[in-house]
Parts: sequence; structure tokens; C-alpha cells
Amino acid sequence: MHVLGISGSPHLEGNTAFAVRYALRILEEAGAQTEFISLAGRNIHPCAGCHQHRSSGKCVYDDDMTPIYEAMLHCDGMILGSPVYMGMVTGQMKVMMDRTVLFRSQGALRLSGKIGAGIACGGFRNGGQELTLQAMHTFFLQQDMLVISDGPAYSHSGAAIVGKASEDALGLKTVENLARRMAKALGL
Ligand SMILES: Cc1cc2nc3c(=O)[nH]c(=O)nc-3n(C[C@H](O)[C@H](O)[C@H](O)COP(=O)(O)O)c2cc1C
Repeated sequence: MHVLGISGSPHLEGNTAFAVRYALRILEEAGAQTEFISLAGRNIHPCAGCHQHRSSGKCVYDDDMTPIYEAMLHCDGMILGSPVYMGMVTGQMKVMMDRTVLFRSQGALRLSGKIGAGIACGGFRNGGQELTLQAMHTFFLQQDMLVISDGPAYSHSGAAIVGKASEDALGLKTVENLARRMAKALGL
């Protein structure tokens, strides 16, 4: 089983990268192969809304989204992590999610049945982690993926970090639970 983790932060080694990698390590221990991708510094053009993919199955832009498309198609499980920006996902995460519209073309839903899970990292408690998670969950649902939460014992809206990820013990517990729940969903 292959799990892809994507950080939507502009920081290569920030809180979101830490939390996504934390989840991937637990999945590796459970037997998964993992891949980490950071959107930091990536050149990903916003969707032009041209709908060319409907006839060609491809995007008109050949940019840093190309290897992400391949990684998404290859994975069985996908963890999206985003910092909370103004109560929501980062622009980087939103642009990336928009650009996956081509997976819904020519009568196919190419991410159908994959397992999706979200991690939100905010500076403050109630800073918008839940809405950030819901945005990523909605992306999974629109791609006909199966969404999991952070699982037992707490099972709330997904994994949520407050402040410095490495020092947020409860937040990291929700990340661990999320990873274990994904491992179970993948039959590991
Ligand atoms: C432009 C901007 C907007 C932010 N908005 C929020 C917010 O609405 N709520 C919140 O809790 N934290 C907010 N933060 C703080 C970040 O979510 C927080 O520092 C996060 O841990 C950064 O993750 P990173 O280290 O992976 O980049 C904001 C930070 C920036 C730069």
C-alpha cells in the first residue's frame, strides 16, 4: 500500500511538514510505502477554467503539478496537510486541489475509492482548523474518495495542530490516530 502525504505550506520544514511526516512515519511502521511532497516553492499555476481537460484528459499547463498528478494516481491513501490561513486552507493547497479537476473527465473519476485524510495546523485554538479540514474533506468527496477522521479514541474532524507541531502532544496524538485509522482502512 502506498500513502502520499502533501504539505500545503510555503515552509519546507514548518509545522505542517512535521505533522504530515509524523503521520507517514507511523504508516511506514505499519508496512506502507510513503512519499512526501511539499508545495513549498513549487510552480503550480492556478486553474484557468478552460475545460480543455474534458476533451484531452490533460491540463494545458505543464508545471510542477505534473509529478503530483502521477503521485496521486499511484497512491492508495492520501494525507493532505494545510496550515490555516485566514481560517482556511492556504492558497497553495486550494490551487493544487483545483488543478485535480482533470481527474474528473471523460466519464471517469480517477481517484475514486482512494482513502483521504486531512491535517490542519493553526497558530491558535479555534483558528479555523475545522473549516480547513472540511475544505480538504470536500476535495476528497468531490474526487469520490473515502474520507476518514482521526479515528478512535477521540474521532473528531480530522487531525488538528495548535501552535508548534512538535510541542503539541494532543495534536500529535490526533495525527497518530489519523495514521493508524488510515492503516486500518488500507488493510495494513
Ligand atoms: C497569512 C497567514 C494567515 C494565518 N491565519 C491563521 C488563522 O486564520 N488561524 C490560525 O490559527 N493561524 C493562522 N496562521 C498561523 C499558521 O496557520 C501557523 O503558524 C501554522 O502553524 C503555519 O504552518 P507551517 O509552519 O506549516 O507553515 C496564519 C499564518 C499566516 C502566515
